[in-house]
Amino acid sequence: MSGINYSDKIPNNVNLSEDRTLQRALEQWQPNYLSWWNDMGPEGSHTHDIYLRTAISVDPQGWAHFGHVKMPDYRWGIFLNPAEANRKIHFGDHKGEDAWQDIPGEYRANLRRIIVTQGDTEPASVEQQRHLGLTAPSMYDLRNLFQVNVEEGRHLWAMVYLLHKYFGRDGREEGEALLERRSGQQDNPRILQAFNEQTPDWLSFFMFTYFTDRDGKFQLCALAESAFDPLARTTKFMLTEEAHHMFVGESGVSRVIQRTCQVMNELKTDDPAKLRAAGVIDLPTIQRYLNFHYSVTIDLFGADESSNAATFYSTGLKGRYEEGKRMDDHVLKGQTYRILQAQNGQLTEKEVPMLNALNEVLRDDYIKDSMAGVERWNKVIEKAGIPFRLKVPHKAFHRNIGALAGVKVSPDGRVISDAEWRDFRDQWLPTEGDRAFVASLMGRVVEPGKFANWIAPPVMGINRQPVDFEYVRFN
Ligand SMILES: [Fe+2]
Ligand SMILES: [Fe+2]
Repeated sequence: MSGINYSDKIPNNVNLSEDRTLQRALEQWQPNYLSWWNDMGPEGSHTHDIYLRTAISVDPQGWAHFGHVKMPDYRWGIFLNPAEANRKIHFGDHKGEDAWQDIPGEYRANLRRIIVTQGDTEPASVEQQRHLGLTAPSMYDLRNLFQVNVEEGRHLWAMVYLLHKYFGRDGREEGEALLERRSGQQDNPRILQAFNEQTPDWLSFFMFTYFTDRDGKFQLCALAESAFDPLARTTKFMLTEEAHHMFVGESGVSRVIQRTCQVMNELKTDDPAKLRAAGVIDLPTIQRYLNFHYSVTIDLFGADESSNAATFYSTGLKGRYEEGKRMDDHVLKGQTYRILQAQNGQLTEKEVPMLNALNEVLRDDYIKDSMAGVERWNKVIEKAGIPFRLKVPHKAFHRNIGALAGVKVSPDGRVISDAEWRDFRDQWLPTEGDRAFVASLMGRVVEPGKFANWIAPPVMGINRQPVDFEYVRFN
């Protein structure tokens, strides 16, 4: 194990005790973090003992220790992947030079902005999910929610460590501001819009962890390539935690679908009204939730043409997804990429400099990855012998950022009139009625091994425990 020190007030593998100034600064931030957690963390959960995994090492195998803990006692700390000896910058204008252990002065402002934007999403999602524990469909799911929440809290720690260590006073101020903004709050909202949306029910939660945590994966992968080595090492370790969040989403949606298909076959119907009366979520409603979460999430990648994206890449701050596996020159000057635009009532492609299109490149990589899981959901429907298939909407559908913002496009990619949009909107995006129906199913089921009617049990439990294991002890 690469030396995580658990006897310190703040568990860490960065020799925190050798840097007294930094240690003091973080120890001052710690009670503010805990008071944020008390105010904005999972509601009514502070006395529960929860079967959580905690990082005890950063080795790829066996970093996770499982045991019952109260969330406020969770050992949030600072864990970086081990340093790679003689790591070189492998893209952009500094390609071939040594990776930076400190931040070059001229890149300070941009790096700060990148770290703050990433850091802001972490507490935001905890805030968005804070009421969900009250309506958990099972004890197993309740535990998974809390696991996701404590790890998002740890991701905030990861970013705040970088801010405190490398940005001095500015960094400490940013660290405070991260605890002050609030998801959805009018006068001090979170930075990115998807993190100001509500996550009011468990179908939204599963869609969020499938689609929006996956945006996290792609952003973190791009930052894991960074020339700024501490950022690369921090985000690499965050990625190992992120995998479970996406598993919660993918398996959660899959279990909802499985249960719906089971009832469809029992009742021999695909009539949404009959299925709703039987207490399960009809597939068209699942499709509308998918359309919403997918479109809101792909906006997170930013404008399709962006000079900032070019700067971040060329200066070595942020790479591409799997930069190291690509076979080009990793400088990208003179190369082009096709992006979409709406012209004369049609979507057309436009060739732009690749460097300016790197947001779009990352978005397209994300789209490929998220489509794969949708196909796995379709396998569940297919296995049940039902002819329905889920589909990710066209990437121009329901966009609010970039050249496609505000253009009305159908899920199959036709530019349409405002009137047509108004006529069909309720078939494409969740309606208030859909949300009210899904909300009506949300009742708390927390006896070990019992599951709400609208969701199938998982195939297996957490850490090879049985499905009816006592994952949460209510005190
Ligand atoms: Fe995260
Ligand atoms: Fe996450």
